[in-house]
Amino acid sequence: MDELSLTSFKTTAGKGHKPRSDARTKRRSSILHKDLAFLQPRMRVFQPKGQEMGEAAARPVAEPRLLSHRLFALEKKPSLSALKEYCTQVVDPKIYPLCESVCSNIPIYKSSGRHIDSLAIASALQDEWYHILLSGPGVFLLKGMYSDSLLDRSNRVFSSIIASEKSSSSSGGDHFAAAGNNDRIWNSFSKHCCADAASFMEYYSNPWLALACDAWLGPAYRITAQVNVVKPGGKAQVCHRDYHLGFQTAETAARYPRAVQVASQLLTLQGAVAHTDMPLDSGPTRILPFSQLFEQGYMAFRLPEFNQYFLENYVSLPLEKGDGIFFNPALFHAAGENVTTDLERCANLLQISSAFGKPMEAIDTLALVERCWEGLMGKYEKEGLSKEVETFVAAITEGYPFPTNLDKRPPAPGGMAPESEQDVVLRGLKEAWTSGAVMQVLRRMRADST
Ligand SMILES: [Fe+2]
Repeated sequence: MDELSLTSFKTTAGKGHKPRSDARTKRRSSILHKDLAFLQPRMRVFQPKGQEMGEAAARPVAEPRLLSHRLFALEKKPSLSALKEYCTQVVDPKIYPLCESVCSNIPIYKSSGRHIDSLAIASALQDEWYHILLSGPGVFLLKGMYSDSLLDRSNRVFSSIIASEKSSSSSGGDHFAAAGNNDRIWNSFSKHCCADAASFMEYYSNPWLALACDAWLGPAYRITAQVNVVKPGGKAQVCHRDYHLGFQTAETAARYPRAVQVASQLLTLQGAVAHTDMPLDSGPTRILPFSQLFEQGYMAFRLPEFNQYFLENYVSLPLEKGDGIFFNPALFHAAGENVTTDLERCANLLQISSAFGKPMEAIDTLALVERCWEGLMGKYEKEGLSKEVETFVAAITEGYPFPTNLDKRPPAPGGMAPESEQDVVLRGLKEAWTSGAVMQVLRRMRADST
């Protein structure tokens, strides 16, 4: 059998790949990734000698298996040594000439004294940041992004929002801390605007923010933000990756093809603005540079041996009030423990989403479900959860619960995504709901999601 390789690029995404260990490869790995080659799965077909593609395609598929699996196997543990191979790289400061310094493998940039009105300077900075996020350590620090005076005004707004929310309702907690341990403002973006449009306008007019967002996502991005205040004694987060797949269970993540898992990191930029000084003992974000390069990372970060490796190898930089930090959402990271006795660590967490991933037309699920419920229930009663029933439910409902309103639909501590439309409809079928019942739950979900 001859092997006909349809692609000739160098890639690390193929089945059975073992990262090369020679020093030259380590040094070059950032260059190998620069053209997105690592996002492309190895695609190969096998073809008998002398046969045309058409003939080969018409023959029945025989053993051995001709194509690699499109999914990561849950039962097959990701390779810790592969992650180590990526994470033992060292940043070469010469690759990033505009950064002021590199500390603990994190390039540090200064916002002061740099004129990003100059297209040449802006473009050069974006080239460096793009490379850092995609192929380099996956994280950079922007010193002095915001002034003290603006953050003082914004902090007063945040404090009043927190006080107001505490007096009116009990918080549902956040992804990692039980209610009451930390203060969290879900959707601080909108609440900041409603509470004080003047400071909001100044905050989100910062051209450095647009420069960072555009460097990774291109234009037409959407900003969301959440404020997180970690009080003295606040515990560290567990090592994780972020939205999208970081919010799924391992079982759900495993259903997404390998290329989608890798490509999902291109859909989000994570950022955080320090609203207070964050000395090391207050627990600024712990980071594992280069870990975004590990293709199986979304399958790996929940495993104890990967968490242990993270705990033994993470880096963390003290931040000053006004610093911004931006990182690839696939980077292994975790907020640190606040071991101070008197410092409330406060950050505005920025999550910026790509324009892509949205459908071309708007679909009103509720109208479709209402019109079809009787027929769908009849089909379910006859067939049970057949492939046809599953296929139809997947066609008319949203299987993804985001975007949502995290105040009204908060994730439980340690929990992940809230219920989706698809989950509700499937639950309704199993529990033999009436049309009125399923519509009531879906309407509530819609109301609670805005
Ligand atoms: Fe995170």
